[in-house]
Amino acid sequence: MAIILETKQLTKSFGELRAVDQINLSVEEGEIRAIIGPNGAGKTTLFNLISGRLPIDSGQILFRGKDITNLPVHKILRYGISRSFQITNIFPKLTVFENVMIPVVSRIGKSLNFITPAKKIPKVNEEVYKVLESIGLTEKAYLPATALSHGDQKRLEMAIALANQPTLMLLDEPTAGMSPEDTAQTVELIKKVCQELAITIVFTEHDMEIVFSISDRISVLHQGRIIAEGKPQDIRYNERVIEAYLGEVP
Ligand SMILES: Nc1ncnc2c1ncn2[C@@H]1O[C@H](COP(=O)(O)OP(=O)(O)OP(=O)(O)O)[C@@H](O)[C@H]1O
Ligand SMILES: [Mg+2]
Repeated sequence: MAIILETKQLTKSFGELRAVDQINLSVEEGEIRAIIGPNGAGKTTLFNLISGRLPIDSGQILFRGKDITNLPVHKILRYGISRSFQITNIFPKLTVFENVMIPVVSRIGKSLNFITPAKKIPKVNEEVYKVLESIGLTEKAYLPATALSHGDQKRLEMAIALANQPTLMLLDEPTAGMSPEDTAQTVELIKKVCQELAITIVFTEHDMEIVFSISDRISVLHQGRIIAEGKPQDIRYNERVIEAYLGEVP
């Protein structure tokens, strides 16, 4: 399998703190990769570096072999890397449809004529509904995002990420704060969508059962470093991993 994402000696400090410390990550095309680790391990920072939201200190980020290190967010998005956020990042007053329409218009915008309102353009409508359909939000298209349940808001965020037609999605705690039923449904959705659309997933998650059930491989971060990496069965009983997690218990 080809490598879709690679980081080489990726490093980022905040003052004295090395939040991401010489990380070498290699993700295969089509893989579901979990990045796990205790609070403050550096997971979100790693996503911020890959998606261009934070400048790196040193190292390199390669996407399909191309150097994308320190490119601006919109260019990284154009390469096909989309992300969702640990803290939901939607426009609460806009409808579900409009939230998904924004990335669709920005992606195909050049071919549109702006005399017609975007939502009346068949191509835009079609694309927005395709995404809403795949994520199960079609019936809620005209509700304001703020009226959705927490679970639906997280799924809407995934829909927004999908509207960019990514080949790689970085999902930062996609089930955070969800009820167990919502969590199970979302996990199934992630699996289904990435299989159908051939999207590679790199995600962070605190719920170990989810991690072990859907990941192809797991990278364990602790204090900015990868301390273990492998298939779920290799990670579950890894001593360093258990120690890193137990060390967190007060
Ligand atoms: N912008 C920032 N300025 C200063 N310190 C930061 C900044 N962002 C993150 N940090 C620090 O970097 C470390 C890694 O944080 P990060 O948010 O990446 O961890 P995480 O693994 O995502 O944790 P969590 O599981 O709680 O989401 C933490 O000690 C955090 O306090
Ligand atoms: Mg985080």
